[in-house]
Amino acid sequence: MLERTFSIIKPDAVGRNLIGDIYHRFENAGLSIIAARMLHLTREQAEGFYAEHKGKPFFDPLIKFMTSGPIMVQVLEGEDAIRRHREVIGATDPKKAQAGTIRADYAASVQQNAVHGSDSVTSAEREIAYFFSDEDICIRTR
Ligand code: TYD
Ligand code: MG
Repeated sequence: MLERTFSIIKPDAVGRNLIGDIYHRFENAGLSIIAARMLHLTREQAEGFYAEHKGKPFFDPLIKFMTSGPIMVQVLEGEDAIRRHREVIGATDPKKAQAGTIRADYAASVQQNAVHGSDSVTSAEREIAYFFSDEDICIRTR
């Protein structure tokens, strides 16, 4: 089923000039970029985005990391996009991520793990709406 998902290239990967490499991997996996923007998250934006993790021991360091530099946010569209995107990204802990995934290749740690991907239809809808309005999303005509 044609699906949309939400994706972030995190400050570590943007800082290492990996935007093009990561976009290439998405496109090679059949995921089309239908909206994209670069921004530097405020603490409030980062805390709201990661609200589900508030109170966990890694929350404060995660917010500090996510606000440490610019990120790329994008909406990806494709068949089974949510699962496919998570497959290309790999497991949260890079030591457990399959070879050839973005996190296996580029994540320095569980925290500095290069990318974010929505984990369900519900979270994809919430996360897309957190950063993009309907007019930002470009319908593919070819
Ligand atoms: P989570 O939603 O569990 O992982 P994923 O990004 O794979 O969906 O956690 C969100 C982010 O929080 C994760 O990408 C990195 C950070 N994090 C830590 O820093 N330490 C941890 O122990 C966990 C579980 C996550
Ligand atoms: Mg998650």
